[in-house]
Amino acid sequence: MSSVHLFLNNSIISPAAAAGIRRRRIPFPGRVIACATLDVRPPGLTAAATEAAAVMAAEARVLVGTYARAPAVLVSGKGCKLYDVEGREYLDMTSGIAVNALGHGDPDWVRAVTEQANVLAHVSNVYYSVPQVELAKRLVDSSFADRVFFSNSGTEANEAAIKFARKFQKFSNPDVKQPPVEFISFSNSFHGRTMGAVALTSKEQYRTPFEPVMPGVTFLEYGNIQAAVELIRTGKIAAVFVEPIQGEGGIYTATKAFLQALRSACDDAGSLLVYDEVQCGLGRTGLLWAYEAYGVFPDIMTLAKPLAGGLPIGAVLLTERVASAIKYGDHGSTFAGGPLICTAAIAVLDKISKPEFLASVSKKGKYFKEILIQKLGGNSHVREVRGTGLIIGVELDVSASALVDACRNSGLLILTAGKGNVVRLVPPLVISEGELDRAAEILLECLPVLDQSNSK
Ligand SMILES: Cc1ncc(COP(=O)(O)O)c(C=O)c1O
Repeated sequence: MSSVHLFLNNSIISPAAAAGIRRRRIPFPGRVIACATLDVRPPGLTAAATEAAAVMAAEARVLVGTYARAPAVLVSGKGCKLYDVEGREYLDMTSGIAVNALGHGDPDWVRAVTEQANVLAHVSNVYYSVPQVELAKRLVDSSFADRVFFSNSGTEANEAAIKFARKFQKFSNPDVKQPPVEFISFSNSFHGRTMGAVALTSKEQYRTPFEPVMPGVTFLEYGNIQAAVELIRTGKIAAVFVEPIQGEGGIYTATKAFLQALRSACDDAGSLLVYDEVQCGLGRTGLLWAYEAYGVFPDIMTLAKPLAGGLPIGAVLLTERVASAIKYGDHGSTFAGGPLICTAAIAVLDKISKPEFLASVSKKGKYFKEILIQKLGGNSHVREVRGTGLIIGVELDVSASALVDACRNSGLLILTAGKGNVVRLVPPLVISEGELDRAAEILLECLPVLDQSNSK
C-alpha cells in the first residue's frame, strides 16, 4: 500500500501532521523542494496539490465507489471553518450533513471526549455504564419519551423503530392471526440505507437495485391527510414514519394539521406514529425537538446525526407503552451507547438544550432566511427560500451542482437536496451572523454561474 505524504521544504508531513498546520496558509503556488527518496509530483503542481491528487487517486483505487465526492481533501477544522490539505479555508454550511452542530473542535466536546477516552471507551452492552444511563436520562427528561434504545447511526435507529413497531403490534394483538405489519412513508422521505430503512425511503434509485427490500410499505404524498387517514383506517398499518421537516428530500415542513391527523388516525386504528428527527432534531429548528413546534407527540422518535457532535450514534426514543412490548434479546448492538460516544453526546446535549442556545438558533435562522430572500430572491433561478431555524433550502429552477462547485471554489461548502435543485444550508448551530452574511454574499456572487448551467 502506498502512503501519502506532503512534501514541504524537504520535510515530509503526514496527513495527521498536516492537521497541525491548518492555520499556516500553504503558499500557493509555492516553491517545492524534491524529496530525496520519492518525488512523483507532476511538474507545475505544489506539494500540497500533489498530496490532494494522491489522496483522490488512492481513494478511487481502494474505496468502493459509492460516493461522488467533491474534490477537497479536508484535514482540519475549527468552529465553522474547514481547511483542506492545500491550506484553503472553507466556511462550512454543511456540518458534515447536519452533524457538527457545535462546529469543529468545540473545546468542551474535545475535553469530554479526551477525558473519557483516557478512562474507558467501550464495554459492550453486556455491562452497565454510567454515561449511557446519564444520556438516556437526559433524553427522557427533555422529550415525550420514557425510554431510549441506542444505535450507531440514523438508519440503524430507524431499523430498530421498524422492529419495535412490529413487535409492539404482535404484543398488543396476541389473539389476532395477522396483526398489522405494514408501514406508511411519504414522498421525498429519507430514512436510511439498510434494508428496512431503505424500504421506507422514497427515492426509487436507492431501493430498486436492492429489491426485494422489506415489503408492505406504501408511499403517500407528504401532507396528504385524506390518503393517510384512509390507509391507516384499514387497520393494516403497524406504523407511520414521517419527518417533521424533510431534509434530504428538499426541506419540506409538515403542517400541524397533517401531523395532528396522523396522530388521531393512528390512535383510532392502533398504529404507531414514528417521527424521524435524525436530521431536523436536536436544536436545528431552534427548538430542541422539531415536533415541539406542533405540540403533536409521536410514539417513537429516531435521532442520530448531531447527537454525539461528530461521533457515530443513533437513538430511538419510545413511550413506556411501546417499550413494554420489547424484551431481552429482541434487539441489540455491540457498539451502541458506549461510554465514549455517550459522553460526547452528553456534552452536545447539555449545550444545545440550554434555552439561550436554542433562542440563538431561532434568531440566526430568521436572520439568515431574511438575508437569503433579500439577496437571492430577485434572481430568476431562485424559486423559493424555505425552512426553519438553521435548516434552510433554496429551491432553484435548475440543478444546483454548478452553484455548489462555484461556491466551493469561493470558499463556501454547501449541500444539495431534493432532486438536486435545492441548495441545502445546515451550518453548525454555533455559526455567527457575520458568517451567515458571508455565506449569503458568496451565494449571491456565485449565482450567475447558473445562467451558464442548462441542466434544467
Ligand atoms: C431524516 C433522516 N433519517 C435517516 C437518515 C440516515 O442516517 P444515517 O446516514 O446516519 O444512517 C438520514 C440521513 O441523512 C436522514 O436525514
